[in-house]
Amino acid sequence: MKYPIVKPFLPSIDAYKAQIDGIFERCWLTNNGQCLQEFERQLASYFGVKHLLLVANGTLALQVAFAALNIKGKAITTPFTFAATASALKFACVEPEFVDIDPETYNLDLNKATAEQLSEASAIVGVHVFGNPCDVEVIDRKAKEYDLKVIYDAAHAFASNISGNTVLEHGDVATLSLHATKLFHSVEGGAIIFKHESDYLKAKQLINFGFNSDFYPELVGINAKMSEMHAAMGLCLLEYLPFITRKRCELIGHYQKCLSRPLNQGLLSFQTWHSKGNNNGAYMPVVLKSEQQLLQVQAKLLEQGIQTRRYFYPSLSTVPAYGMQGSTPHGNELSLRILCLPMFTDLTLEGVEQICSSLISALESSC
Ligand SMILES: Cc1ncc(COP(=O)(O)O)c(C=O)c1O
Repeated sequence: MKYPIVKPFLPSIDAYKAQIDGIFERCWLTNNGQCLQEFERQLASYFGVKHLLLVANGTLALQVAFAALNIKGKAITTPFTFAATASALKFACVEPEFVDIDPETYNLDLNKATAEQLSEASAIVGVHVFGNPCDVEVIDRKAKEYDLKVIYDAAHAFASNISGNTVLEHGDVATLSLHATKLFHSVEGGAIIFKHESDYLKAKQLINFGFNSDFYPELVGINAKMSEMHAAMGLCLLEYLPFITRKRCELIGHYQKCLSRPLNQGLLSFQTWHSKGNNNGAYMPVVLKSEQQLLQVQAKLLEQGIQTRRYFYPSLSTVPAYGMQGSTPHGNELSLRILCLPMFTDLTLEGVEQICSSLISALESSC
């Protein structure tokens, strides 16, 4: 594939080998090892947050967050997200109550939740879709009014800010995915950022089988620990963060410039970003006129070695396994017409130009 949809960014092999040598010398592979502790400390300092816990992946991060906050019954969430948001709720025996999105920002629009939905729920699970910060003010206000916990699935929101501060400081909890396909990764991995120390301490126990300091299983826990090999990868990549974020912003800017003509002709549209936020360059979604056109364009791009992804499709409120509760016309419509273009740190500006020119030809020759 000439242009895959994503390509993991890798550190220098020598730096990773040096970390692995240390792991071999210590012969300590998991269970709160030295790499894990150092990665946790450096990541918390990068975000400027106090209570950060590393875990094995972003899905477990959500499951542990729900358990730590004791979420029960129903939770209001968005249909326009990855399967993990809803499946983690179902795993915790919490029913997702789908509320529609804002068709411009692609994020949960809590103004569309009815008083009945809000009073029956115990939590709001917002997703900062493609790294675009949710309307945290509206969510906070409704959460206070209806006494709801707020969990943000921030899987895409590494390096996303509101007014210069990390988006991860919003909500009772925010969860990150550090999967290899993400902007920043530890091969597999996740992180949970807690507002309250008591929730953080509970989660610390939960991720290690519920053991207390005497190795007594005080809580019903799970094994969600991150290994030393994974933490070592994260540690090695930290020093590249300024480069990664700068490069991705440049790529997004170039995509937007190269696609300005079809944008002005109404052939496609872009996500509207939070007015006080920065585009973190995690994804490059475009919305086309119809699903039929999307399928034609996707096939044409693939013929030229350009991989695209229907992300997120299908709308989760249409999936029987997740309960199909709530009316979400905007989320359903967006799911049918959205296509993510290749986006990875090693992509070049010339690559963006080729992808855009192929996309424009495909758009112009499609119906
Ligand atoms: C919105 C969202 N939530 C959760 C996850 C799950 O993260 P992980 O793959 O690390 O389990 C993903 C993964 O892409 C995601 O996109």
